[in-house]
Amino acid sequence: MTLQQIQEAAEFIQQQTNGFVPQAGIILGTGLGALVQDISIEFTIDYAGIPHFPLSTVESHKGRLLFGTLSDKKVVCMQGRFHYYEGYTMQQVTFPVRVMKLLGIEQLIVSNAAGGLNEHYQVSDLMIISDHIGLFLPENALIGTNLSTLGDRFPDMSEPYDASLVSTALDIAKANGIRAHAGVYASVTGPQLETKAEYRMLRLLGADAVGMSTVPEVIVARHMDLPVVGISVITDMCIPEQLEKAEIQKILTAAFKAEPNMTLIIKKLLSNAENRSNK
Ligand code: HPA
Repeated sequence: MTLQQIQEAAEFIQQQTNGFVPQAGIILGTGLGALVQDISIEFTIDYAGIPHFPLSTVESHKGRLLFGTLSDKKVVCMQGRFHYYEGYTMQQVTFPVRVMKLLGIEQLIVSNAAGGLNEHYQVSDLMIISDHIGLFLPENALIGTNLSTLGDRFPDMSEPYDASLVSTALDIAKANGIRAHAGVYASVTGPQLETKAEYRMLRLLGADAVGMSTVPEVIVARHMDLPVVGISVITDMCIPEQLEKAEIQKILTAAFKAEPNMTLIIKKLLSNAENRSNK
């Protein structure tokens, strides 16, 4: 993935959107697409039409970029993301984040469906990601020639998720009676779910939730120094002793149920960001 390819994709999008400059980028996870109904959409671009963009393959994901306004903020929203388990390289998985940065985003909001490892969590709770474990991923988009105009060779990861945004998100949840926790997200490739022994291991390592996305995009966002907020929707509980068979339908149902809470937090985070920049 070269800088030129990223620039070509961004230029194509700028032409298609009359130079729309989004302030925030949003990535919607599995079963969490309803937020788009709240965006007053100005432009829609299918991934298929964008130079160098990978194509979305998972059925529950639509592959397009939406441009519009949410909470009085200009946003670009990825309706459908790319997962490593679909066969993409990590550079393909993270390509849209690079492009959104060139389009002008000042923060990245990323969501996902995740398995709950912390015994205090319940299905359909939210977890505001405070840190992550990405070491299980076999590939890394930053390996290879560093795109030095975009970021450092050795990006800092001491605070991958913006601490003030994490605490604001938790405050918003509390004020609105939404069950939300700050926690550590562990990223695995999937597509198979984990064994009981693997869940036990992840719990021992300090993970509060596990999922098949997010960390690759966050690494690339942080490489470019973009502030990140991550929200996991707990779709199933993964306590080894009480493990039930995973069913995609149950996971989607739990995601749908929690989605309005996630949407509320994202909208309030956006309006809060506006207030801050107006000060
Ligand atoms: N493991 C990995 N990914 C997931 C899970 C899980 O238990 N639940 C939802 N996404």
